[in-house]
Amino acid sequence: MQIEILGAAKSIDKHTNTLIIQTAEAQARVTVYSPTIIRICISKNYENADASFAVIQQPLTLIDYSEQVDHIELNTSALKLIINKSPLRFNFYTTDGKPLSEDDTRFGTNWQAERVINYRKLYPDEKFIGLGEKTGNLNRRGSHYVNWNTDASLHGVNDDPLYKTFPFFIGLHSGLTYGLFFDNTHKSYFDFGATTDEETSWFGADGGDMNYYFFGAQGIRQILEDYSWLTGRMEMPPLWSLGYQQCRWSYMSAKEVLDVASTFRKKQIPADVMYCDIDYMDGFKIFTWNKETFADPKAMIDELKAMDFKLVTIVDPGIKIEEGYQQYDEGIKNNYFATYPDGEPYTASVWPGRCHFPDFLNDKVKEWWGSAFTALTDPGVEGFWNDMNEPAAWGQNIPWLVKFGNRFMPEIRNVYGMEMAKATYNGVRKILGNKRPFVLTRAAYAGTQRYSAIWTGDNAATDEHMLLGCRLVNSLGLTGMSFTGVDIGGFMGNPTPELMVRWNSLGVYTPMFRNHSAEGMIMREPWQWGEENEAIIKKDIEQRYKLLPYIYSGFYQSSQIGLPLCRTLAIDYTADEKVFDIKYQNQFLFGDFMLVAPVISTELTTEVYLPVGEWYRLSTDEKFAGQQVINADAPLTDLPVFIKAGAIIPMQNVIQSTGEKGDGILFIHIWNGTEATEFVYYEDDGLTYNYQTENYYKRTIIFNPQKRAITLSAVKGNYVSKYMKLQVILHGLNIEIDQFANDIGRINIAY
Ligand code: GLC
Repeated sequence: MQIEILGAAKSIDKHTNTLIIQTAEAQARVTVYSPTIIRICISKNYENADASFAVIQQPLTLIDYSEQVDHIELNTSALKLIINKSPLRFNFYTTDGKPLSEDDTRFGTNWQAERVINYRKLYPDEKFIGLGEKTGNLNRRGSHYVNWNTDASLHGVNDDPLYKTFPFFIGLHSGLTYGLFFDNTHKSYFDFGATTDEETSWFGADGGDMNYYFFGAQGIRQILEDYSWLTGRMEMPPLWSLGYQQCRWSYMSAKEVLDVASTFRKKQIPADVMYCDIDYMDGFKIFTWNKETFADPKAMIDELKAMDFKLVTIVDPGIKIEEGYQQYDEGIKNNYFATYPDGEPYTASVWPGRCHFPDFLNDKVKEWWGSAFTALTDPGVEGFWNDMNEPAAWGQNIPWLVKFGNRFMPEIRNVYGMEMAKATYNGVRKILGNKRPFVLTRAAYAGTQRYSAIWTGDNAATDEHMLLGCRLVNSLGLTGMSFTGVDIGGFMGNPTPELMVRWNSLGVYTPMFRNHSAEGMIMREPWQWGEENEAIIKKDIEQRYKLLPYIYSGFYQSSQIGLPLCRTLAIDYTADEKVFDIKYQNQFLFGDFMLVAPVISTELTTEVYLPVGEWYRLSTDEKFAGQQVINADAPLTDLPVFIKAGAIIPMQNVIQSTGEKGDGILFIHIWNGTEATEFVYYEDDGLTYNYQTENYYKRTIIFNPQKRAITLSAVKGNYVSKYMKLQVILHGLNIEIDQFANDIGRINIAY
């Protein structure tokens, strides 16, 4: 194997906003994207090096550096980059000179045959978090990961890789924070000190460039804001997609779909979404309906709509080889499929049998794919579930010489799913006009949050998978993905009633709340678990609906600053070693103020670590001091959820679906505290893009316990709130105050 190590700088030039450094092996380019974001791209062939699937921003035009004999010093208002000239090494510091992250002096960037690798110095107390959908511990120190989007059906709780690629991590050491995004779509590797030399960490890829963005902001929130600025933020989701979603592989007929939906209404268990998995199609042909079992999709969807349900249908990329099938004929005629190098379309087997696969790298193919959704939207589908887009094919081994445009599989595999989701999103956006679509995808790459929600694929009906789901969701939240979920109940296998109940209660505090199971598993609807359990499940789903004003405002935060809804405690309590403790690492904050402690189904008490501050148990208002481990009761009826003192949580009464208006009262629950807190309450029509032109209702709620004052700022935006009345409920003080909601000026409440 040939090893090349980046050597000495031979020339240094500045071209508008880029510093270009040439060595014998490669060219390195340095660009400043913002005072806290610097890109380093070291490439042997710069031709394609600037193309990115993930990045949507442009660099700043200014670059401030000075050249010394042996190094270059580049300064921004937040960062100092010292570039050693011989050998060429890149070292990042805070402005006052504290090391944030440095190249390993010996190996820095190097090439091991076709592989490009970067060795970095490992600090003794360094921790690593992030990388998105990865198993393992919150602190990834000592672990090694691979990014190679995989149909990881039946995966174990420690398997790697799974379905998605988010090559972004956050490093923590010496009380400092930094982030690093390796924007390279090839199969990539991250080693966080797994080699245990205690000197180096490294990352790299099978091909492409050493192309990374360094984030130097101090504080994880700020790093997430920067990362989501660079790669984009989610749009406001349709409100209905935050309600309860009932899925199944598969409800086999329109009648079955309607029966399930009407049972929810009959039993008054709130729900918003029904799904059709692959069996709604004719022979699994994408964009078709089964003529017998789903003979009149419009009539079915009209009936669903009359019950206030939305329908989500699945699409897979595999297009069945069958003459006379529109998508096949058009794809062949226009050369829209991925091919072998000789131009023959690549063929593999998936659900429909022998299939070809759209070349989603081609804009024309994206448009073609997107416009085909009329087959689903015409009868009234509003949600679009993109599956099997790793891409999956039986045997799981799509040959490396399969071509997408003029690029080959090894470079494309990790972005194929995101490009499919993008094609779906763009297509349905065009068709649905001003209506927000819901798009869901299984495979993803950094930036997918711009187009789609994601779920974590085929998990199993075990407690371990339920806990893993928390870590996956929390870790995805560190990579720009706020709208995420897991198959509640577990996809494969049958949960015990206790596990089903427990998992459902956890689902309340998961961004996407979807019950899903595989073909052949026992039925999973809330009423399949006996009367007593049904009552608990119903109560928990009701809790989700009560919390929707808080959850929706949380999504607004994600759309504005990239902060996820489910937050590992590491985000806000970074310096607290306890939050990385394996015992407590599954705990998370749901939005700004709720701490959720997952508990396995076989235990009825649990140890909970409460970080600094004061906390109230949601169900009892019992108060606890922070920075201690408590033993919490955890009956199946009461998942341990704790509220941070000073919390401001808007809620509503129970409704059966998000389409229901409710009683017009917004309950603003406030838990007493010691310091002033605030919450940005956000509301809009939940359905259209009118919010993008100021058609929203937004006000900041400030609680100041020292002044015994609650202030609601004047309303911003010109949407009229659906709530007529505000009721402020002060926990820890037992005070209730009523107020008019449609008073758009500032409201001061003294208590
Ligand atoms: C895949 C998906 C799963 C779906 C099934 C059938 O396994 O991950 O969610 O139900 O295919 O379409």
